[in-house]
Amino acid sequence: MKSVVQYKMKIGNIQLDNNTVLAPLAGITNLPLRLLAKEAGCGLVCSEMISANGLVYGSGKTLQMLASTAEEKPLSVQIFGSRPDLMAEAAAMVADSGADILDINFGCSVRKVLKTGSGSALMKDAAVARDVMVAVRKAVRIPLTIKIRSGWTPTGEQALDIARLAQDCGVDAVAIHPRTATQAFRGCADWSLIARVRDHVNIPVIGNGDIETPAGALKMMAETGCDAVMVGRAAMANPWIFSQIVALQQGREFPSPTLEKRFAIMLRYLQASVRHIGEAHACRMMRSRLGWFVKGLPHSSRFRESIKRVETESETADLIRSYHKILKAEVDPLPSVR
Ligand SMILES: Cc1cc2nc3c(=O)[nH]c(=O)nc-3n(C[C@H](O)[C@H](O)[C@H](O)COP(=O)(O)O)c2cc1C
Repeated sequence: MKSVVQYKMKIGNIQLDNNTVLAPLAGITNLPLRLLAKEAGCGLVCSEMISANGLVYGSGKTLQMLASTAEEKPLSVQIFGSRPDLMAEAAAMVADSGADILDINFGCSVRKVLKTGSGSALMKDAAVARDVMVAVRKAVRIPLTIKIRSGWTPTGEQALDIARLAQDCGVDAVAIHPRTATQAFRGCADWSLIARVRDHVNIPVIGNGDIETPAGALKMMAETGCDAVMVGRAAMANPWIFSQIVALQQGREFPSPTLEKRFAIMLRYLQASVRHIGEAHACRMMRSRLGWFVKGLPHSSRFRESIKRVETESETADLIRSYHKILKAEVDPLPSVR
């Protein structure tokens, strides 16, 4: 077991407040969700993956994915693609949009993405991977990172090779989700591979995969020596996990969110989503998303049922407020949800 625990980290010239990172999650880590994670103490937020082709060919929907505000900074924007020239052009657009860090997706194993040679397909072909990284590195001055999987075999050799290649190409940090491309999300993440990658390169390594609790994050850091932890699915249900990790690192109590905070953040998430993607789309999203924040609370299934058909912001906000009222009357103090 390694005992290195770092609280702060730098990616290139970007100093992070702490070493927790929100994982890129397609369809989820849009601006409103990132603002929420940031407010909950996250050190670095990442965009969902954005198509390099979509950016270069000016798809309005894709360009909208670059929207950002000062409050969420620093921001890492992830792109995917496989043509070095298009990736370089897209990377320059991302840098021009004001992103602080550019990340290349080497991990997506969805068939539609693999078919184009992108995502984890890049881990199969070191020559293309190299051309992409060299072209992108030349195109932007902001720090560059890559996010990889174990590769295509359980040995993890491809991860070691790509991480070293990345370092040689001037990449500033590597994030690893140690599952193979064929594994998708089955089985367990192999944290021992994070430790091997950490030993294999000199650039910062961000460990990812199956962190479910603040204690789990510290366990990953202690076992692997990774410089930062990246949390995906657990942050959807509990965005406060970031400040809880930091508190635990510092030997403080977990700042469990109060009922007031929890409902205030739900309302802000709704408002920010309406502003960002419009009322109809935002309300459709809220039908499933708001349920994440009330997991484990009394009557949460009734609340989830009630928001299934919401269509307007005011209707959704009313349902949030009346559920809050019911809980305030019934539950005092609130059991902490972690
Ligand atoms: C719904 C969903 C969407 C994802 N989208 C992306 C993505 O856009 N880019 C990426 O690199 N990884 C993506 N991932 C993988 C996550 O970033 C992360 O590596 C994985 O969920 C493991 O971390 P976790 O156990 O903390 O969730 C996605 C995962 C999920 C569940």
